[in-house]
Amino acid sequence: MTEEIPFNLPYLTGEELGSISDAHKKGQLAGNGDYTKLCHEHLESFTKSKKAFLTHSCTAALEMAALLLDIKQGDEVIMPSYTFVSTANAFALRGATIVWVDIREDTLNIDEEKIEAAITGNTVAIVVVHYAGVAAEMDKILSIAQTSNIYVVEDAAQGVSAYYKEKHLGSMGHLGCLSFHETKNVISGEGGALLVNDENFIDRAKLIWEKGTNRESFSLGLVEKYEWVDLGSSYLPGEIIAAFLYPQLKKTKSITDSRLAIWNKYKSQLSDLEKSGSLRLPIIPKNCTHNAHLFYIILKDVFDRRRFIADMLKSSINCVFHYTPLHSSPAGLKYGRVSEELIITEYIAKQLIRLPIWVGMGLKADGVVSEIKKIINQ
Ligand SMILES: Cc1ncc(COP(=O)(O)O)c(C=O)c1O
Repeated sequence: MTEEIPFNLPYLTGEELGSISDAHKKGQLAGNGDYTKLCHEHLESFTKSKKAFLTHSCTAALEMAALLLDIKQGDEVIMPSYTFVSTANAFALRGATIVWVDIREDTLNIDEEKIEAAITGNTVAIVVVHYAGVAAEMDKILSIAQTSNIYVVEDAAQGVSAYYKEKHLGSMGHLGCLSFHETKNVISGEGGALLVNDENFIDRAKLIWEKGTNRESFSLGLVEKYEWVDLGSSYLPGEIIAAFLYPQLKKTKSITDSRLAIWNKYKSQLSDLEKSGSLRLPIIPKNCTHNAHLFYIILKDVFDRRRFIADMLKSSINCVFHYTPLHSSPAGLKYGRVSEELIITEYIAKQLIRLPIWVGMGLKADGVVSEIKKIINQ
């Protein structure tokens, strides 16, 4: 039997257990200990964000963002429909109506040319998703937001070590959200971070992070007791998660380089199939430095995606499709509306396939390529 090629294999630096044991020895198990502080410092210097807060997940970071923006019933939040549920859920939870805008054909990110038509008197924020670690067109989006006096939140779940004009993803909007879920490039099992780029949000973010209490002021001896001062939740992860994450963060560059090597191999070895018109490969605009988070192919519609995935699996190669568009999902119909027809979203949702990509794949990537060629050319 052929050796299985999984879609994802979480990468371990080998230092995670050492730092976890160190946190344990220090008796630091709850959140906001030494490793959390190290991760915050690392993230702030790496992303150039004003303040980083580790969270349990990118989902939690998005929820913090919705609280910080005081999202309430009747507000509208613009975003792409081709994204993960958490992008929308965080804002719907606060009562917002989600307004979906179509994506660009090249990057599969929100189409900045279609945002203005979706803005109404109730619009509070635009949430951009940097799909596959390739940036949305931030200059234009930030300028629209400034003119309309609305906020920008970056869902940079897939964006660690990816840049737009040399600015780290998640560091350009008022708020940015990262994921360290085990399917991402840099991981802590579950995990994420909120990046606060507008310093007006920093003080409240500290309260929201610590269950709506002024616990930080108490720890610093600034108040006699800590108390409930705002809405919030338990958004800070324990030290074990932070201790796992810290060695991963330090290896960000080598992890990204290893993934890029596989990504580049796919891109060059599959280019003949693109030339012959069987599929489309990822497009990276010149303003974007991506992080090889995903490698996808978009099959031309003469091919049946389900059959293609099943054929790959017969050779033990796990390929997967991606998002089911939110606008037509049961909760999406209840909590949002489309700004206009989402033609590209629907096409991409039907034809996109992600190929296995993980550190250590080595020659297995060649096997993936030859199997794709066999299936398409048969
Ligand atoms: C675009 C996007 N946003 C948010 C999330 C949620 O991330 P997490 O699992 O860290 O909550 C994901 C997860 O894959 C994602 O792809």
